[in-house]
Amino acid sequence: MKKITLYSAILICFASCQSKMSTENDMANYSEKYRPAYHFTPEKNWMNDPNGLVYYEGEYHLFYQFNPYGNTWGHMSWGHAISKDLLQWENLPVALEEYQDPLTGDSTMIFSGTALVDKNNTSGLCQGKDCLIAIYTSHVHKNGEGKMQHQSLAYSNDKGRTWKQYSKNPILDIQRKDFRDPKVFWYEPQQKWVMATVIPDLYKVRLYESKNLLEWKQLGEFGPLADTSRIWECPDLYELPIIGSEGKTKWVLSISGGHPQGPKFVGMQYFVGQFDGTNFTPDDPNQSALYLDHGKDFYAGIVYNNIPKKDGRTIMIGWVNNWTYGGQLPTSPWRSAMSLPRVLSLKETESGFRLIQTPIEEITKLRTEIITDSISSTGAAEIEIDLDTENSLEIGIRVFKSSDEQTIIGYRTKDQVLFLDRRNSGHVSFHPDFASIEEVKLKPANGKIKLHIFIDQSIIEVFANNGEVTISNYAFPEKGEYKIETYSQGGKAPTYKLWKLKSVWSK
Ligand code: FRU
Repeated sequence: MKKITLYSAILICFASCQSKMSTENDMANYSEKYRPAYHFTPEKNWMNDPNGLVYYEGEYHLFYQFNPYGNTWGHMSWGHAISKDLLQWENLPVALEEYQDPLTGDSTMIFSGTALVDKNNTSGLCQGKDCLIAIYTSHVHKNGEGKMQHQSLAYSNDKGRTWKQYSKNPILDIQRKDFRDPKVFWYEPQQKWVMATVIPDLYKVRLYESKNLLEWKQLGEFGPLADTSRIWECPDLYELPIIGSEGKTKWVLSISGGHPQGPKFVGMQYFVGQFDGTNFTPDDPNQSALYLDHGKDFYAGIVYNNIPKKDGRTIMIGWVNNWTYGGQLPTSPWRSAMSLPRVLSLKETESGFRLIQTPIEEITKLRTEIITDSISSTGAAEIEIDLDTENSLEIGIRVFKSSDEQTIIGYRTKDQVLFLDRRNSGHVSFHPDFASIEEVKLKPANGKIKLHIFIDQSIIEVFANNGEVTISNYAFPEKGEYKIETYSQGGKAPTYKLWKLKSVWSK
């Protein structure tokens, strides 16, 4: 008897000491190798899509697909962080956790979805005049096998700190194994909620409407169109201003699916058109794919709900990673990052309306030292550089550089191609498809390609010609020397303006 007690005491001590030790050892300090200084990363563990982006009472909420138990995909739950400026994030406890059906024993993971402010308590679930509502895909599975996906609802009456599951979940069930990623927004002209969902394997976006967030009626469907090389996921539908046409807007439907480099990778595409409260109609019903980002590491992007009218911006955050190699990124104890928040708008061009993406201007708050030499060294910076395309065959900038590693952002004048080359960027061997070069056609404006580049330890985001084109990619420089230099074949190496950016995690 005594023996058993002693044994169990040792066991208990072993378990608790272990868990204490491992929390201490795992405690991230946000200064590990490759840890971004100003892009959001969870303290530890696996993260994928941004979820439930919503602004409420002075706080931007960032929920995200999260595995509370490890560094690879699984046990999907909603991680949670808040920010006052979309830059400095405070990590909060997991908001919505995977749960077990008490009757069947099946597990339900919390897949991607939306959060919104139920302004007039249309759901009747708010204790005061309004509250936060989350609508997510309830992914039912058994022994790792997906059985069913439907949409469910949870609500919070304390600014997102604690959540209750709606007692009559699911709120939308079409008895399908793949049916997911609800994005819900308020459609002012018809005073109703609209939900965009995907039927991934049919390349369809299906729309629904509701007055109370609890009962949903089907509206129109969109797709298949353009790139159907990979299943469609994470739809979003939003109205954007047109640059230079005061007061004019058009609607954009974005989805995550195929990639400009074909079915090996995933990426995002978008359609521009009109939404009348029932159907989204693209301007060009035969359009070929328009890709949102030309890098490998921008996926599952969605825009914020409830940004105050006086701000007026449409702000998107995307997942910096690619399903092809995402589970093998050489980072620990976290895996994956979020992109910089981007402001979206439209521009009319000869070929139709095109998306313009620019980094939020708040980022200038992180600027410290400014450097204008052509050779410098830093891993976290914002760089502005104009490439003169008239006197060079190829011109650009090399970042994350050491004697034998570099990532090149350059422009080939002969065929008017902007590229990001990470083939020799350092640690590329963790996956056979990681070493790559991204290329996108881009015309100079007044003989120049204007680059606005953000580098952050292992992330590179390039905004070209005032946001006409973006390229977002990881690169993992092994040597960690982080040198920067410009080059030109045939002309003069360009100069640049560089601001070192401070970490958002340092106290
Ligand atoms: C997109 C996605 C979503 C799904 C989630 C699961 O990256 O596959 O369709 O809801 O991730 O984690």
